[in-house]
Amino acid sequence: MSKQDTHFFNVFSLVIGLLIVVAIAIFAFARVVATQTQDKQIVAEAAYSKNVAARLAMPAQEAVAGQDNTALAIKAEGGTTAAVAGAPTTGTELFNQTCSACHGQGIAGAPKAGDKAAWAPRIAQGKATLYQHALNGFQGKAGLMPPKGGRLDASDDLVKAAVDHMVQLAQ
Ligand code: HEC
Repeated sequence: MSKQDTHFFNVFSLVIGLLIVVAIAIFAFARVVATQTQDKQIVAEAAYSKNVAARLAMPAQEAVAGQDNTALAIKAEGGTTAAVAGAPTTGTELFNQTCSACHGQGIAGAPKAGDKAAWAPRIAQGKATLYQHALNGFQGKAGLMPPKGGRLDASDDLVKAAVDHMVQLAQ
């Protein structure tokens, strides 16, 4: 190594070393400032304490027979207690939630809601047949209509109302 190279190497090492020292000093200073301000502020924040409390809470709660378990009731999004959140109560709602998945756009061979030509021969069979096929399912030439459109939790009357709704749309 020439003398010049040695000189450069020494100066270079010194500069790098100084930069490292400065970086550590800035980091230490930032930590000191943070403990004075940031950490205290976080601990004082209501949302933060609530989060910590939630994480420390028991992971599950059990309903105990003979005791007041209303606090465990599953709440619907609106905050009111409902048996099943968002359960359809009218034929139109059931149609919108379930039947329209296939009948809305005429998917998988389903006669499209509102398509008069597709529905005319089906309506001609009579409502009783349509109800029967909607309730128990139906394998036709076009495809498979699942029993109650897959919503086995829906009442028979609700499914019939959904059929009425679709028949109405096609008239
Ligand atoms: C998974 C898709 C799918 C869903 C969901 C679905 N259907 Fe269907 N539905 C079909 C198909 C496919 C047909 C046509 C079957 C054929 O004629 O080959 C059909 C036919 C029908 C028919 C005519 C039956 C006939 O005799 O011509 C009625 C009525 C009907 N569906 C009612 C409903 C109702 C009510 C719902 C919702 C509760 C529903 N469908 C949900 C696929 C579906």
